Amino acid sequence: MKIALLGYGKMGKIIEKIALSRKHEIVLTIDHDNLHDLTAENLQKADAVIEFTMPASVLSNIDHCFNAGVPIVVGTTGWHDKIDEVKQRCEEGNNALMYATNFSVGVNIFFHINRMLAKVMNNYPYYDVQVEEIHHTQKLDAPSGTAITIAEGIIDNLESKNEWVNVLTTDDSHDDGNVATDQLLIESMRIDSVPGTHTVIYDSEVDTIEFKHTAHNRNGFALGAVLAAEWLHDKKGFYSVEAMFDFKA
Ligand SMILES: NC(=O)c1ccc[n+]([C@@H]2O[C@H](COP(=O)([O-])OP(=O)(O)OC[C@H]3O[C@@H](n4cnc5c(N)ncnc54)[C@H](O)[C@@H]3O)[C@@H](O)[C@H]2O)c1
Repeated sequence: MKIALLGYGKMGKIIEKIALSRKHEIVLTIDHDNLHDLTAENLQKADAVIEFTMPASVLSNIDHCFNAGVPIVVGTTGWHDKIDEVKQRCEEGNNALMYATNFSVGVNIFFHINRMLAKVMNNYPYYDVQVEEIHHTQKLDAPSGTAITIAEGIIDNLESKNEWVNVLTTDDSHDDGNVATDQLLIESMRIDSVPGTHTVIYDSEVDTIEFKHTAHNRNGFALGAVLAAEWLHDKKGFYSVEAMFDFKA
């Protein structure tokens, strides 16, 4: 398959390696220093685009791909308040897009179990729940897109929580903020070079249940993005990464 990479930062470089190891060809690489190469003609050389840039550029990159009629896998986070608009443009234009706050297979298993666990915990209201996420200090958005997906999974399935609130700290000190009982706290910490750690904590007076995912490096996200491009390249429509997985339990 021929792949175009939008964004050649930490993720773009690993995606390139994994795509080449799976016998794909990289036909276009765009970063801030060659934006003039981002043309419909160049994009159309690819069977699929993989986009890992920045919240400020992702929407215009999606538009470029829609205008060129090339399927796009979007890894960039921090734009999900625009998801309904993008979905509408995707479907009206008969385009193809897959997005994920996190493409790692392990995290998607985690999302699935998190939703099931939240349902179970409805019967045990003496546990309160919160989400913790730790990322490297260069991360631009807080809370992480992954933490938002985890929080939405809890809110959709646990009757006692109606919305999430975020507290950001830049060290490993804990700050439980000032949250109402129907609010779900997402505590974000920014520490050195941590690739991504997410913990769901159910706490009662007698014990604590912790459910945790730790990324050891970025390879899992990159492999998931390449698998997504392989899955999407011959399809039309707007997909979340779950479409790729079969988690029947
Ligand atoms: N969905 C996932 O699985 C997942 C996993 C990891 C990271 N991310 C997200 O992916 C994004 C990128 O992460 P990263 O760690 O590679 O960041 P990074 O800062 O290392 O790389 C981003 C790159 O995009 C480039 N860029 C900026 N504007 C551009 C534009 N208009 N066109 C093309 N390139 C442009 C920058 O110069 C930089 O090289 C972030 O939003 C991050 O949160 C998502």
